[in-house]
Amino acid sequence: MALLELTAVTRQHKNGQVRVDALRGVDLAIEKGRFVSIMGPSGSGKSTLLNIIGCLDLPTSGTYQLAGQRMDRLRDSQLADIRNQLIGFVFQSFHLLSDLDAQTNVELPLIYRGVGGRERERRAMAALEAVGLTSRRRHRPAQLSGGEQQRVAIARALVGEPLLILADEPTGALDSRSGQNIMQVFRQLNRERRITIVQVTHDENVARHGDRIVHLLDGLVEREEDPREVKGS
Ligand SMILES: Nc1ncnc2c1ncn2[C@@H]1O[C@H](COP(=O)(O)OP(=O)(O)OP(=O)(O)O)[C@@H](O)[C@H]1O
Ligand SMILES: [Mg+2]
Repeated sequence: MALLELTAVTRQHKNGQVRVDALRGVDLAIEKGRFVSIMGPSGSGKSTLLNIIGCLDLPTSGTYQLAGQRMDRLRDSQLADIRNQLIGFVFQSFHLLSDLDAQTNVELPLIYRGVGGRERERRAMAALEAVGLTSRRRHRPAQLSGGEQQRVAIARALVGEPLLILADEPTGALDSRSGQNIMQVFRQLNRERRITIVQVTHDENVARHGDRIVHLLDGLVEREEDPREVKGS
């Protein structure tokens, strides 16, 4: 059974009189342990799709099943619990709290869960170690490079031991070398911990780190690509 499955998912936005069909009937199934890249032109519905996968938004119609449970029937508070327990989010602009050092930023999801100080510190240190940032744990975001800030954000996504990491343009604010470094971190988490990863990207070189590329166009899955197949062969 797939970890997540969307069937005939639509999402309409209403802006006054104007209706935008952001998703127009998406069928998509992703198995546990995959690393999927979503590509497509601006406005094709990538973020809308990722928000639905991340239980930040609900479909207008169609069904969404995550870990065997129908998400499209849950209440907001239930969706918040699912997000907390199963999903780690990584954003283009990192979304770190500027007054807190790296370790405290990483501890935040555990503070919300009521995990005690000792245990929080142990898990935050392990997550920072996984992204190679142990030595920067007392730095605040302004004292870190962009790539390092994104690694802190990944450690924060990781600390709750999620089933699924969702990333919207995780390398969009980084130079290409830092971006490749973030992809190495994702690949390692995907291979060694079997964390399922779904990322949105505009960058072909970033997308190819995934094991499957889904192309969206005008709110629909246009085609799929297997990046492991050598081009031109
Ligand atoms: N909250 C909203 N209200 C109204 N329209 C919206 C809203 N969010 C998205 N849209 C519209 O839905 C369509 C899909 O938006 P979405 O953000 O999913 O695109 P995207 O593929 O992520 O684009 P980009 O690459 O620019 O981030 C766009 O036409 C957008 O204008
Ligand atoms: Mg977007």
